[in-house]
Amino acid sequence: MGKEKKTIQDLTEKQLRGKHVLVRCDLNVPLDGKSITDDTRIRASIPTIEYLKSKGAIVAICSHLGRPKSGPEDKFSLAPCAKRMSELLGQNVPLVSDCIGDEVAKLVADAKEGDVIMLENTRFYKEEEENDPEFVKKLSKPFEIFVNDAFGSAHRAHASTEGVAKMLFPSVSGFLLAKELKYLDGAVSNGVKPMAAIVGGSKVSSKITVLEALLDKCDKIIIGGGMVFTFLKAKGLSVGTSLVEDDYIDTAKKVLDKADKLGKTILLPSDIVVADKFSADAKTMIVKSDSIPDGWMGLDNGPESTKEQKTFLADCKTIIMNGPMGVFEFEAFNKGTYGLIDILADLTKNGSITIIGGGDSVAACEKSGKADQMSHISTGGGASLELLEGKILPGVAALTDKTNTVCSIQ
Ligand code: 3PG
Ligand code: MG
Repeated sequence: MGKEKKTIQDLTEKQLRGKHVLVRCDLNVPLDGKSITDDTRIRASIPTIEYLKSKGAIVAICSHLGRPKSGPEDKFSLAPCAKRMSELLGQNVPLVSDCIGDEVAKLVADAKEGDVIMLENTRFYKEEEENDPEFVKKLSKPFEIFVNDAFGSAHRAHASTEGVAKMLFPSVSGFLLAKELKYLDGAVSNGVKPMAAIVGGSKVSSKITVLEALLDKCDKIIIGGGMVFTFLKAKGLSVGTSLVEDDYIDTAKKVLDKADKLGKTILLPSDIVVADKFSADAKTMIVKSDSIPDGWMGLDNGPESTKEQKTFLADCKTIIMNGPMGVFEFEAFNKGTYGLIDILADLTKNGSITIIGGGDSVAACEKSGKADQMSHISTGGGASLELLEGKILPGVAALTDKTNTVCSIQ
């Protein structure tokens, strides 16, 4: 990742006491209406906030939530996160109805040491994603110090992840960001071999392109979830009504060719749980992956595939999983994902390093009750993949260097 960056532990007591600190967390949690269905990211943000409080800082948390299109939308309000944060910290965390402007300035100025407030969704402004310099100025104005703890968003060069890091000095990483970098960057640069990557989930277009990079780094690849069917179609097989991105069939072919040339194996499921509709109560059956009938869609891998995955991974010392194997939210299609999680839990017991990335994989691990049996549960999906790909994360690059007094990017 280039030069080592400052963390909050590099800041002195004097630098923090009574100071107004803007903390970027990734509170982009899954919601069912207003209920948080997995609060992992909020819990993971707590140690940094507790630490800053204990040093007498005045803490303002900012984050995005979801992908609002144009302006504020109630369903993307951070209100449920402020409520959960209040419960976890045991103190009221008021939510300001904006992330910039007079109301924020007043609340921050009036706050006492140890107070924690939350600013409303930064993506309620289109300038956030544009990393607009004027917006960056407004966002950073009430603050002296910036702490980036939003690993899950560190691959975004947005105002609240990258812009403010260049504007405020010092800009440092929080505990979560530092830990994620240590684990994931460590796995990529010095991971013990043989190394495997498991790539699944429905974000076919965003993941299929990183497979080439993963092929270089890892000895073995397992592909699962929705992207499987683009690969099966690339192999000339019928996939019924399964999810396919036709624009990516050529890419899939190239990935398979490259694996062949490198002498590396990509394991695709040999059997599939198919359904007559996308529904928890759909009619289902298990078929060979080369015999998916017309009118049926694949929503999970079958039991034969799980057995093959177990054998395939048996000698692997470092395994990175990003994305589920099926629609694990429905009981009928959760066995592929949970079966693989069981395999990873056993491998961890035997000394392998297992790293789980991606909101969905983390949620699946939590739901399976085996989250604490993995070596590291990452809070980042896209961010962990980009790190794996060797990309520079803008939210990290913009932070203050350990050795320099000024940020190298300024
Ligand atoms: C995530 O969940 O992947 C991060 O919070 C980033 O969200 P985004 O993909 O909408 O930028
Ligand atoms: Mg994302």
